[in-house]
Amino acid sequence: MRSFPPRTLVLGLATALGALGAATLPAQATTVPGRLHERPAPSNAPYLDARRPVRERVEDLLKRMTLDDKLGQMTQAERGGATPQDVTTYRLGSILSGGGSVPAENTPQGWADMVDGYQRGALASPLRIPMIYGADAVHGHNNVYGATIFPHNIGLGATRDPRLVQRIGRAVAEEVAGTGVQWTFAPCLCVARNDRWGRTYESFGEVPELPSAMTTEIVGFQGRRLGSGPASILATAKHYVGDGGTTGGKDQGDTQVSEAELRKIHLPPFREAVRRGVGSVMISYSSWNGVKMHGNKYLITDVLKGELGFKGFVVSDYNGIDQIGGGTPGLTPERVTAAVNAGIDMFMQPWDWKQFIDMLRGEVANGHVPMSRIDDANRRILTVKFQMGLFEHPFADRSFQRTFGSDQHRALARRAVAESQVVLKNAGNVLPLSRSAGKIFVAGKNADDIGNQTGGWTLTWQGSSGPITKGTTILQGIRQAVRPGTSVTYSKDGTGIDRSYKVAVAVVGETPYAEYMGDRPDGMGLDDQDLSTLANLRASGVPVVVVLVSGRPLDIAAQLPQWNGLVESWLPGTEGQGVADVLFGTVRPTGRLPVSWPRSASQEPVNRGDGKSPLFPYGFGLTYRH
Ligand code: GLC
Repeated sequence: MRSFPPRTLVLGLATALGALGAATLPAQATTVPGRLHERPAPSNAPYLDARRPVRERVEDLLKRMTLDDKLGQMTQAERGGATPQDVTTYRLGSILSGGGSVPAENTPQGWADMVDGYQRGALASPLRIPMIYGADAVHGHNNVYGATIFPHNIGLGATRDPRLVQRIGRAVAEEVAGTGVQWTFAPCLCVARNDRWGRTYESFGEVPELPSAMTTEIVGFQGRRLGSGPASILATAKHYVGDGGTTGGKDQGDTQVSEAELRKIHLPPFREAVRRGVGSVMISYSSWNGVKMHGNKYLITDVLKGELGFKGFVVSDYNGIDQIGGGTPGLTPERVTAAVNAGIDMFMQPWDWKQFIDMLRGEVANGHVPMSRIDDANRRILTVKFQMGLFEHPFADRSFQRTFGSDQHRALARRAVAESQVVLKNAGNVLPLSRSAGKIFVAGKNADDIGNQTGGWTLTWQGSSGPITKGTTILQGIRQAVRPGTSVTYSKDGTGIDRSYKVAVAVVGETPYAEYMGDRPDGMGLDDQDLSTLANLRASGVPVVVVLVSGRPLDIAAQLPQWNGLVESWLPGTEGQGVADVLFGTVRPTGRLPVSWPRSASQEPVNRGDGKSPLFPYGFGLTYRH
């Protein structure tokens, strides 16, 4: 469980604090105990000269930094737990927005004003080291109202289209850059092996080659080289390593596999991400054979930094170090030392970041953490900041706000939605539907619900049902697709249907969730509401096409014989027309399963090559003959 204060509780406070913080900067920065009197760096200091090599700038800056400068640089606080003045006083290296942590004005302008406020706080410190602002832009700039929301990764895996995913990364980078955010905690490169896992939809697929192929999104986010072009934002390969392989699909659980299996299944996407120059890697909450990843020096320092040659910086997950060694979660000096010495460079300690800094200062003073480790962490963080051009361009490039939620980005998202649809059944060629079908009946809780079709990590951490942001529902897409003279009737629960209708489309599946809230240790079947809706349709005798909006395969083998057609839509995002494009054949279906589809939940885990017989195998997908 997330440690106190629970994320959802604090976020209300966050908005108030954030607004206050960004608006008011006390005149005089208070000094921090132990801080030597510091003079601002001379304007001709080498580290401020962009013509000099990055390595030279880093070394010049490092030798000017006090211990407090260095400890602050390694610390990331939540916007709801820190003000711009705190950034100045404690030299904070980074601020984040956790899921749903938004400024009072949740618009690109409101974000840019907030982020620039924190940046002014950073630049008010003697050495003027810019802070870097991070957020989860995992399927669009999904915290911000009106952003283009793309399909979640499992749907992008179904496209088998790395070039499309790179273009999506670029579009998201533009919408993010316009708000001043410089860092996205994406892509998730997890290899989901058990679909009970609540984060299955954040995975591109169950075999390493799919996430590896989709590391093109890193190039979309960062450019060919970090900082190489406009709207280059820092990407994050996460969560290192083995988060999708836990026993039972338990989020933050234990991945009990041999090193050979870990290297074969879970490591390859990170090797590819490093090859593509990813600037940051986030550590997984999960354990490997009982050892929490946040304390695993072998895998972080020896393998990731040594063997794979990762040169960026490693960031912990949200209070992730509080679980090291098991027992009651919480921040302790021992856990701080274990995490720093394991090779983590920046610490996401949203609320107790002051305690973190004080504990780390003590662990350096008593020799448990060597200064060489502190300097290595700072070199990595500063190298990335220099590479990004943050010292030269610390503030939001508001010119990109014109791309926010643009028609062009929405058209790209619509194409991605269409390419992600997987047709699993098409009895009697019920699909494609005719656009002149006369009378079409649409039912289901997910037919006309932007919140359900965008899923978790949308506007809030968990996401929510309802008209939560701008977009087109699947029902609206169907209505737009039919020709004049054809009527579309919507009945959420399926009542009112009769034999006069040519076909019924039932859009059912899951409601939003994120992380451990989405774990399904018990069952993966349709809920009672959906089963009742489907029963109402079946009683009519009208052919039924089921569209599943879900973050994973569901246990539907028992119901499948009663359906004429089945399309897995995944979590398509805001552009529901892409689903209608495939239903009516405007776009021929090309999507293929990125995960094996179990015959029942009890068959999990079921994966390609494991000798089991799934209901639909990895790679399955039908298309239309004509
Ligand atoms: C979460 C997630 C991680 C996310 C981070 C910041 O707990 O595990 O994926 O990037 O917190 O929101």
